[in-house]
Amino acid sequence: MTTTTPRFPADFVWGVATAAYQIEGAVDEDGRGPSIWDTFSATPGAIDGGDTGAVACDHYHRWAEDLDLMQRLGVDAYRFSIAWPRVIPAGTGSVNQAGLDFYDRLVDRLLERGIAPFATLYHWDLPQPLQDAGGWPERSIVDAFVAYADAVTRRLGDRVAAYATMNEPWCSAVLGYALGEHAPGLREPALAPHAAHHLLLAHGTALEVMRANAPGAQHGIVLNIHPAYPATDAPSDIAAARRFDGFFNRWFLDPLLEGRYPSDVWEGYGAAAPDVREGDLETIARPLDFLGVNYYTRIIATSDPTVPWPSVRAVPFESTPTDVGWEVYPQGMTELLLRLQREYAPPPMYVTENGAAYADVLHNGTVDDPQRIAYLEQHVAAVHAAIEGGADVRGYFAWSLLDNFEWARGYAKRFGLVYVDYETQARVPKRSASWYAGLIARHRGEIDD
Ligand code: FCB
Repeated sequence: MTTTTPRFPADFVWGVATAAYQIEGAVDEDGRGPSIWDTFSATPGAIDGGDTGAVACDHYHRWAEDLDLMQRLGVDAYRFSIAWPRVIPAGTGSVNQAGLDFYDRLVDRLLERGIAPFATLYHWDLPQPLQDAGGWPERSIVDAFVAYADAVTRRLGDRVAAYATMNEPWCSAVLGYALGEHAPGLREPALAPHAAHHLLLAHGTALEVMRANAPGAQHGIVLNIHPAYPATDAPSDIAAARRFDGFFNRWFLDPLLEGRYPSDVWEGYGAAAPDVREGDLETIARPLDFLGVNYYTRIIATSDPTVPWPSVRAVPFESTPTDVGWEVYPQGMTELLLRLQREYAPPPMYVTENGAAYADVLHNGTVDDPQRIAYLEQHVAAVHAAIEGGADVRGYFAWSLLDNFEWARGYAKRFGLVYVDYETQARVPKRSASWYAGLIARHRGEIDD
């Protein structure tokens, strides 16, 4: 039987991704300070099942075994995040070299195995003292982030192939400060645009010191882009989809890539629009070496004037959802990448996250996950179609290497290529892991189609 693996450019990067708080555990070790996720996950009712990241996948102790898993997959690159509370436990002030030691070792061992380290500096685990001082809505946080970015890039330098400043600033700003679904769990919508502005400003300001410390690395940012499709051809639905796109996507894309905030969203925020000072937009729009794109699903949007701005409601879809309720919509990936290429002429793009949660079961030592294989296969093909159509996409990272702490959904939602038995911490590669290893090997010509 011939497979349908499309041919990617020879230097296309295949990777897997994780994030510190979702896998590391060891929240009290080697001088780590508390983060907003420790606090939030200890809040009754915040996380499904009352789960916390206190132990997670115990990756802080099992990292070498996890590198073996990656090597067996044959990945070219590993996207992980660095925990700010390990590096500067109080958020500002002294650097904890013991915390940096962990990432130093990880990076060296990755390099020994020929796996390129892709590090994200901020994947949501803000040191709690910084939140106590107001968090992302406070402009002074920019200096704190720059000092942290300096400490990391000074120590790891060019051994890291690519640094992303932020992961999904929309989630930090909106889920964290407006909707209360993520840490710090605030429900104050007026804070979100300020938080978003400072996340972007911290990103742009830090780029300068990051480039000075690691001139040979690529520097960029990771956005979650959530395409909105109008539910019908009615002008009100078309306008609703446009509003949602502004609120979720353009609010970040436009300042980063065009140096301006979109005026429709600015008006939508009204009195809550951020305090943008002279020079801020130039800083935010500093050139990037890459844009990371996380894509999982889309929204089918209809106008709903009864809900707060952007006054959009999601219309139910008909296909079978993933285990987190998301629609499987691979053509959204192709259309999104082509749109970014067409409308923004972005730097080279990486798909920095894509994957699906399914209710996996370990049975006789194996996990059969045909739905995840189908999801990944369709989305990889969708990336290929975008490249064929002219999108400059250089790599693809499957989310995730391991089942892990899926934020507010806890451990019940499994996104891994590798199953984690949380009782024993045993790792069991799923069928999708073999599928992904085969895809990479075929790409390299190590096995025939
Ligand atoms: C993204 C996050 C990542 C993971 C996936 C499922 O929004 O960046 O940490 O939780 O969703």
